[in-house]
Amino acid sequence: MSEVSTLAVIGAGQMGGGIAQVAAQARINAVVFDAAPAALDKCRGLHKKLIDRAVEKGKLSRSDADATLASITYTSRWEDLAGADWVVEAVVEDLAVKKAIFKRLAETFTSDRVVLATNTSSISITDIATAAAGASHRVVGMHFFYPVPVMGLVEVINGLQTSKDVVDRTVALSARMGKTPLKANDRAGFVSNRILMPMINEAFYAWMEGVAEPEAIDGIMKLGCNFPMGPLRLADFIGLDTCAHIMNVLADGLNSERYRPCPLLRQLVTAGRLGEKSGRGVFEYPAK
Ligand code: CAA
Repeated sequence: MSEVSTLAVIGAGQMGGGIAQVAAQARINAVVFDAAPAALDKCRGLHKKLIDRAVEKGKLSRSDADATLASITYTSRWEDLAGADWVVEAVVEDLAVKKAIFKRLAETFTSDRVVLATNTSSISITDIATAAAGASHRVVGMHFFYPVPVMGLVEVINGLQTSKDVVDRTVALSARMGKTPLKANDRAGFVSNRILMPMINEAFYAWMEGVAEPEAIDGIMKLGCNFPMGPLRLADFIGLDTCAHIMNVLADGLNSERYRPCPLLRQLVTAGRLGEKSGRGVFEYPAK
């Protein structure tokens, strides 16, 4: 089994940036692609900040930090991806956008050794793989969690077309990146969001129905169930628009209206209260 030496990440957002960072920390060269140069600059800045902080805390030597930063490159040129031997797509959760990318990836990476992974949190791997003509057996789900450098899991999802060899190699690479890989089959939401999102949705129902105020709902789940964050705080952390979107994917994919987003969750999204990223969701986040 040949070792992966260069991992390409498509999308320089929070997830893509985190995936590139953990790859670099595992001594794998990372190339971050994004069509928007501003997104690349932000990603580069965040890498430097997080890695410098690890040095300050004594978790990383300066020379290791410099080597890690030097092994990440940032580009808006698709041609610069050519040398990669593994790709992880981490762009917006939009099937049409992902399909266009996987069509292009299959045309660019014709070697049977190059795995084309997606970090989708709920979209069908089988569906995305249909766009990778001739390479659908190399398409796999590699679902990281936010914040990627901290969270220990990679959910590995096989589409109907994914080969066993590709799943095995995805498990091996995830472990090399310091994560625990756990396998799930390709049903809407896989395991993580099939269970997490209805719980978050239920917290919105509990708030909407006046069962308790948000602080009490979160406090009860933190102190009573040992959650690091209450479900409403976690919704703000993930993004209320993302939570509502995933609930709709579950409702469509599992053929059941019981998964539709809670009306209060939908209303907050309509009002632009998207969570931490917009400064207000369930709770308020003053600009730092
Ligand atoms: N990026 C990188 N590192 C971060 C970070 C970020 N955004 N936020 C926090 N950290 C690091 C801190 O630097 C700190 O590192 P050290 O231990 O090395 O010092 C560590 O995380 C702990 O941070 P804090 O002490 O500041 O805060 P905390 O103890 O409250 O932990 C937390 C913060 C790790 C985010 C914790 O609250 C937590 O685990 N929350 C739940 C997160 C979760 O459930 N994520 C999954 C979301 S769902 C998802 O991603 C999938 C999906 O499909 C929607």
